[in-house]
Amino acid sequence: MKIAVLGGDGFVGWPTSLHLSNLGHEVHIVDNLSRRWIDTELGVQSLTPMDSIQERCRIWRQETGREIRFHLLDLAKEYERVKQWLAEERPDVVIHFAEQRAAPYSMKTDRHKVYTVGNNVNATHNLLAALVETGIDAHLVHLGTMGVYGYSSVGAPIPEGYLDVEIATPAGPRGQQILYPTKPGSIYHMTKSLDQILFQFYAQNDGLRITDLHQGIVWGTHTDQTRRHPQLINRFDYDGDYGTVLNRFLIQAAIGYPLTVHGTGGQTRAFIHVQDSVRCIELALSDAPEAGERVKIFNQMTETHRVRDLAELVAKITGATVAYLPNPRKEADENDLLVKNDQFLALGLDPIRLQEGLLSEVVDVAKKFAHRIDRKRVPAVSAWTRDIARRVDHDPEGKRLKSVS
Ligand SMILES: NC(=O)c1ccc[n+]([C@@H]2O[C@H](COP(=O)([O-])OP(=O)(O)OC[C@H]3O[C@@H](n4cnc5c(N)ncnc54)[C@H](O)[C@@H]3O)[C@@H](O)[C@H]2O)c1
Repeated sequence: MKIAVLGGDGFVGWPTSLHLSNLGHEVHIVDNLSRRWIDTELGVQSLTPMDSIQERCRIWRQETGREIRFHLLDLAKEYERVKQWLAEERPDVVIHFAEQRAAPYSMKTDRHKVYTVGNNVNATHNLLAALVETGIDAHLVHLGTMGVYGYSSVGAPIPEGYLDVEIATPAGPRGQQILYPTKPGSIYHMTKSLDQILFQFYAQNDGLRITDLHQGIVWGTHTDQTRRHPQLINRFDYDGDYGTVLNRFLIQAAIGYPLTVHGTGGQTRAFIHVQDSVRCIELALSDAPEAGERVKIFNQMTETHRVRDLAELVAKITGATVAYLPNPRKEADENDLLVKNDQFLALGLDPIRLQEGLLSEVVDVAKKFAHRIDRKRVPAVSAWTRDIARRVDHDPEGKRLKSVS
């Protein structure tokens, strides 16, 4: 199949592009490289040394004989070019990763809020409008997040997208299936909630065939393909804005930095290893909805863990210490999270569980590139409100932090 990977230069997009190319698909990466610019804005870099996207594609071709083409395009700002690109290339599948994906970055300042909403909502809507206008019957696969549901304890598993409800009507109770209610906890998560409504509309109005993958936090770094050559290495974010919880614990352990647990660490989150993430996308392609069908929603996660349990596990394996810090986020101290993921299991996913070997692999990668880590960039300083910003003022090594809200 001809597959467009929008956001294919990113942490999940790059290994997905390699995985799909390896399976024999014709892969086209579309990216505006904004993520690389954000690193420059924040004064950080990927823990792993990333080559330019053109160089990465060249190495892939050299290693495998397979071609991945790169197209520099801004989905949010260049509507006419996006439409023209789709009309010319006519992909069978469009995988949409191309959004600003860090909750802390989205909460940094009003400018970051405005950027995140403008970028994410326009990128998604431009794509949908262009698909309708060009009449391309591509299967659109979007990367959403489990985080749209918020992190409050409900006591029942979160279903895959839809909830059965009973509405009291004058004629008696009526059953209906509705989108599971979202409760976004950041501007970033809010944009993903808005995406869901856009998808619902375009599937129902224009018959677009859409799959929305509600992904958990991705951990790990290597996949079978990124291991093939040092220059195919994946991006790895460790900083307080883009680094995600488990990967951050692992790099902190590698450089002798305390594991930074926010609040009580009682937050429960959903996780998936990057190798399973790319496999799930492959599985989703094999199960496309028909035109006129409602949006197909999968929970793309394999396990849930409490943050403090993860910190204790990493501390046990590595001998690291754990630091409990004020939480920069506005969220419940403790929550449970039960999630259904039956659809991927039925399609054949054999989940990679948190295991010492894979955790140690990340620590080894972090040790190898430890010289690239700026310790000042490790703490999370983006506070959700001005009040919270006042209490987030020291890093675990006792240095004063600059509040940013
Ligand atoms: N990483 C995770 O743990 C995680 C968890 C749940 C969901 N997701 C979702 O998966 C997707 C990919 O995540 P990631 O970690 O690979 O993110 P990433 O930031 O590494 O990659 C996103 C890519 O999209 C590009 N991009 C952003 N805006 C664009 C635009 N307007 N036009 C063209 N390209 C644009 C960026 O340059 C970047 O290369 C995101 O949508 C994210 O919300 C990620």
